[in-house]
Amino acid sequence: MTFLSKSSLIAALIALPMMAAAHEDVQNKAVKARMMLMTDIKAAMGTIGGMAKGAVAFNADQAAAAKAALVAAAPQIAIRFEAPETDPKSEARPEIWQNWPDFVQKADDFGAAAAGLQTASVDDLKAGLGAIGKTCGGCHKPYRVDK
Ligand code: HEC
Repeated sequence: MTFLSKSSLIAALIALPMMAAAHEDVQNKAVKARMMLMTDIKAAMGTIGGMAKGAVAFNADQAAAAKAALVAAAPQIAIRFEAPETDPKSEARPEIWQNWPDFVQKADDFGAAAAGLQTASVDDLKAGLGAIGKTCGGCHKPYRVDK
């Protein structure tokens, strides 16, 4: 086991109960699962963003792992959101299921931006972060309730 996989395993173990706590009042398991997917996406973006800003030391292995997490998460969006599940805590707009092909397109846009990220240097992360962030907003704006 490499240092990276050990430390990310530890990070995952620490993060698990915290993430569960943040969603404990969500009744609908399907809604909770799609929120957890988004939480994972946010965590990977946080790793990349932290390194890009210099808040966290650059580590090429961790940057590549965060990119891989984003690329893997992208096709999960359509799977997790396809059923029009609701919950009082959900921020998903009903327009998702009225414009399903467009929603899937926006998930694909996110996947393509993530796949295009270069992770060899801080400058690579800085250069690619904005394009990915745009795809988060590109979907949240029409399909997620403003808080
Ligand atoms: C294809 C659409 C789509 C894309 C792309 C997308 N999101 Fe989301 N996201 C949503 C929707 C819809 C919700 C609301 C889900 C709900 O509350 O049921 C959401 C919710 C979230 C949440 C809140 C989760 C919670 O616990 O309630 C976070 C954090 C988040 N997204 C982060 C991101 C980030 C960061 C990106 C880009 C790297 C991103 N999302 C890309 C559609 C998307």
